[in-house]
Amino acid sequence: MKKIILDVDTGIDDCVSLAYICGHRDVDLLGVTTVYGNVDRDAATRNTINLLSLMGRDEVGVYSGAEHALNTDGFTQQRGGAVFHGLNGIGEVALTDSMRAIQSRSAVDFLVDMAHIHGDELTIVASGPLTNIAQAILHDKDAMKRCKRVVLMGGALTVAGNVSPVAEANIFQDPHAAKVVFESGIPITMIGLDVTSRAILSRDDLKQWETKSDTTQTLLQIMDHYFKAHELIYPQWGGAAMHDPLAAVVALHEDVVRTITIPLTVLTDAQHLGRTVLNLSAIEDVMSRTVSVAIDVDVALFKKHLLSTI
Ligand code: BDR
Ligand code: CA
Repeated sequence: MKKIILDVDTGIDDCVSLAYICGHRDVDLLGVTTVYGNVDRDAATRNTINLLSLMGRDEVGVYSGAEHALNTDGFTQQRGGAVFHGLNGIGEVALTDSMRAIQSRSAVDFLVDMAHIHGDELTIVASGPLTNIAQAILHDKDAMKRCKRVVLMGGALTVAGNVSPVAEANIFQDPHAAKVVFESGIPITMIGLDVTSRAILSRDDLKQWETKSDTTQTLLQIMDHYFKAHELIYPQWGGAAMHDPLAAVVALHEDVVRTITIPLTVLTDAQHLGRTVLNLSAIEDVMSRTVSVAIDVDVALFKKHLLSTI
């Protein structure tokens, strides 16, 4: 069983990612940590708890994390967040409000504790801004460096950004946190727009969800908003990009992508804010080649894993 913590800003594609991880028989889901991003932190937490309840997974602890980026003092939902995910983050679908409580421990304390306890057995799958992970590293780097791997959805190495010409949304929301994470020395797999913008699901791909279960039917309702946004903004794609689910699938099946392992950093100057680039200052240091950046994806294999699990 693979020990996993999911760090989410739930978010429509985060919902699919959560459903995949919960549905996978080889996963020991230690907990879910939440962060602002597509919506504010509390909305992301509520969406996460409600979805877990819907899936009958109330035993999975939910730990509330950062409310805003490291270098800001507040959060406002970005335009893209509302367009792709809706004002409530889940396509304006009203899930039944779960009666269960969130855990009292913070996301950062939980991440550090789990790193201490499970060390090189622990994979963190991050699909929102990297603030929680960066704070955990700043708090106890030695413990976090024991983690097996962070598989994260974020960044763009060889392609343009999706919220600015250069930056991808999760990295753009907190480039300083992303820099801390990428330069930490923890083994990282970066699932960026290079591959996620090819991981497209069409409405037809999800036909089987119409009759499968309450969860898949609710996911379809939520996904409708996401499909509509893609039909409007990326009509040429013929479907919707499964950014976060690709990271979740790669955490369990690394052969779905082809990677190159390099030293990677994040630019924080105004013009290139949030751009993920080769870290030229570390190019000669073999030890700093810790980021495996996905540059190619087997889309058919990705779909097979995702759809046979949810
Ligand atoms: C990422 O940003 C969010 O909108 C999605 O949930 C995904 O994590 C894609 O750039
Ligand atoms: Ca996300």
